[in-house]
Amino acid sequence: MTVQPDAPVCDIDFYAESTIADPATAYHSMLSAGPVVWLEKNQMYAICGHSDLVASLRNHECFSSAKGVSVDDEINKFLIGSSLNSDPPQHDVSRSITFAPLSPKNLRHIKERIETEAETIVDKLVAKGEFDAASELAPYLPLTIVRDLVGLGPNGKDKMLEWGAATFELMGWPGERRNKAIENLKQLRGFLEDPDTLDNLSDNGWARRAIKLGIDGGMEPARAAELMRDYIAPSLDTTISAIGYAIMLFARNPDQWQKLRDNRDLVRNAIEEVVRLNTPIRAFTRYITQDIEVAGTTLKKGSRVLMVYGAANRDPLRFPEPNTFDIERKTIGHVGFGQGVHACLGMNLARLEIASLLNSLADQVQQFTLNGPVVARVNSTIHSLASVPVKIASDIASDIARD
Ligand code: HEM
Repeated sequence: MTVQPDAPVCDIDFYAESTIADPATAYHSMLSAGPVVWLEKNQMYAICGHSDLVASLRNHECFSSAKGVSVDDEINKFLIGSSLNSDPPQHDVSRSITFAPLSPKNLRHIKERIETEAETIVDKLVAKGEFDAASELAPYLPLTIVRDLVGLGPNGKDKMLEWGAATFELMGWPGERRNKAIENLKQLRGFLEDPDTLDNLSDNGWARRAIKLGIDGGMEPARAAELMRDYIAPSLDTTISAIGYAIMLFARNPDQWQKLRDNRDLVRNAIEEVVRLNTPIRAFTRYITQDIEVAGTTLKKGSRVLMVYGAANRDPLRFPEPNTFDIERKTIGHVGFGQGVHACLGMNLARLEIASLLNSLADQVQQFTLNGPVVARVNSTIHSLASVPVKIASDIASDIARD
């Protein structure tokens, strides 16, 4: 079907590797064209203006997730059913089960463990004097703590990162990367359907707890097993992305690092600013359930629209000088963790992990200096880095030099 676009046409390919490597330029082109644009190369409308995106995210009746939030309807068949890929009331049932361990109240029980592990890795890396923040620092807490807490057992634990990346890959338009990602997604489906999986889950893990609550509440075992997807796909890569970017941004903006060292109350807002500017999840889609007008464009019932969190977070109408990293700016209302019923389930855990690392680093590191090229990772949805090589100036090194 040929669409006569009812919005400014934008000729960027949202899923080209060049866009993935440098999404900021694409966000700028989209926002300059209008709050809603027609992506000619992807044959889809995209909502990128901040106020229109927020209003749409809050309208889950018209902007539905129940048919999946991937661009690709074939892939959506694998995904539907998790909290992310469902609508109320089904969504609220699964979310109420999987959220409990991630509530601020329950996170208090793991705070000390996270802070202790943060100190351990920071001590180790500071002692080296230089390290890769993307590969040596960023994955540490998600892989040592969060993966254990999820508790998938031996046949799932080591695959979690790969399955998560594949799920995010297939939420977009992965081109040649599609086949490998589909293999991973099939493995994940096999894991969820395997009757042995339940027996192998850790006794006190979040996964076992969620399945038990699901079954006790009357869910079929197969449906209860799907609850594990709330933890498998989004709990690692998202946070890893934010940590890698945080260090890159502080290395490029040493004045902001100094401000944070001088006033630790800024840590909380600095995390929001990193998530605003970097926006780990570039975009998901929604399925339109009835004709609706957004910023003068009619989105037709039965079509899909791209919800571009990354662009909305750089909308100058909401965030003045949007490309500037400013840990004191008003970050409230950013959509890096989503908005509405699907707002991120794990944001408090992510904030706790990132805050623990930034505080430990601020205790010791005077300055980060990039000492090699920053390399982007290629994934159609998660915007993250493969390499952020940094050299540090530390207080300990200065003390030794003074002595
Ligand atoms: C910096 C880290 C993170 C970022 C930037 C992030 C981002 C997001 C975003 C943008 C959404 C909204 C999706 C939508 O609108 O459809 C979302 C939802 C979600 N996130 Fe996160 N996330 C992060 C960490 C985590 C962690 C650590 C977990 C789990 C432990 C998690 C679990 C989820 C789940 C299950 C949903 C779906 C919630 C629902 O549909 O009700 N996220 N996240």
